[in-house]
Amino acid sequence: MTAHINEFVQRRQKLMSKMGSGVAIIPAAPEVIRNRDSHYPYRFDSYFYYLSGFKEPEALLVLIVGEENKTILFCRDKDVEREIWDGFRYGPEAAKAEYGVDAAYSIQQLDEWMLKLLANQKQLFYSLGADPAWDVRVTGWMNQVRAQVRSGVFASRGVQDVRQLVDEMRLYKSAYEVDLMRRSAIIAADAHRRAMQKVKPGMMEYELEAEFLHAFYRRGAQAPAYTSIVAGGSNACTLHYNANNGVLKNGDLVLIDAGCELDGYASDITRTFPVNGQFSAVQKDIYELVLAAQTAAIDKINPDHHWNSPHDAALDVLVQGFIDLKLCHGSKEAVLESGAYRQFYMHRTGHWLGLDVHDAGEYKQQSGTWRKLEAGMVLTVEPGCYIRPAENVPEHFWNIGIRIEDDALVTESGAEIMTVAAPKTVSEIESVMKKNV
Ligand code: GLY
Ligand code: MN
Ligand code: MN
Repeated sequence: MTAHINEFVQRRQKLMSKMGSGVAIIPAAPEVIRNRDSHYPYRFDSYFYYLSGFKEPEALLVLIVGEENKTILFCRDKDVEREIWDGFRYGPEAAKAEYGVDAAYSIQQLDEWMLKLLANQKQLFYSLGADPAWDVRVTGWMNQVRAQVRSGVFASRGVQDVRQLVDEMRLYKSAYEVDLMRRSAIIAADAHRRAMQKVKPGMMEYELEAEFLHAFYRRGAQAPAYTSIVAGGSNACTLHYNANNGVLKNGDLVLIDAGCELDGYASDITRTFPVNGQFSAVQKDIYELVLAAQTAAIDKINPDHHWNSPHDAALDVLVQGFIDLKLCHGSKEAVLESGAYRQFYMHRTGHWLGLDVHDAGEYKQQSGTWRKLEAGMVLTVEPGCYIRPAENVPEHFWNIGIRIEDDALVTESGAEIMTVAAPKTVSEIESVMKKNV
């Protein structure tokens, strides 16, 4: 068993102690056809991976808590013929030895095993609704177990969403996870620096995207964490722009929102910089405002504050800035109350980050109040300003779109910005880009 596998063993133990008693079923993600017989690159299901560490498709994890506790992995059999075509697969015997489960069986035997494993279990933990194909299969097993009632077998009456228990665990990153996330952040931060160094007026947005992919893969990241946004000029005002096929023009800004995935863990960085290496006066005004908003938000990341404090702080700075720049009118309170600022800032200031770019974990407590930030949580901080042409906006602001996004680990006393290596201030960016001309 490789050393880090112990991490997965501990996670299973923790989940099992939260379950109390019953059986949990956590399936792997299906392979997805892209077209005809070609598949999308396989990406494991985050829950299945979090608990198993196992990256193959056609697998399922079962956790049983009762008089006897047991962890069982179902996976593909060894198959020399298929391995010639598709590559290595563990097979149950080697999977059991490597992944620290109590037993591993062939996925071919899943139906017969599940009828035995689900019998006489009071509680089922399963993510009903996550995958309709698995829902059909799981309800089929339950019905067959229920049909044995006259032989004295009983079936679980309730299904509890296993994700509820796991989400709370995923929210607090372990030292192993933090290490991976720091490395993912460093690769992505270096990619942003590389983009700043490579950009030139006349380049296509996709050429810059290619620089990112190069920087990700050459450092061992397995994939981009999400579809990269490379948005020159007015394209930056489309929040989820990803056509990435425009020309990067002299005098425009380019907004890049791109991060990578390293052993499953995402980084998520946005930088906005001038295509020609020099901010214009008006671009600089807006940039400094967004940066001030981000600084105010980062100042609120510590265990004394709740989830929404960074957003409130960023909004406060942005709204005052919009008033000072005459983009909004009236008092700060009135602009906040009316929501007029949403013309220029229409999204929230961050999200949890981890195995998923928008990671698992509740933002509010059951009482309805925002949850407190705690050491080990990881979140993004990403205020922005997007100014589309409009009659109520002076023309020199039109088509400026700016977002600045970093990844923050909450510590006992504040925040560690894991993406700090990506140049961010006007002077840092202009100095990195000086060498381009
Ligand atoms: N890149 C996705 C996000 O910033 O939320
Ligand atoms: Mn983000
Ligand atoms: Mn992002």
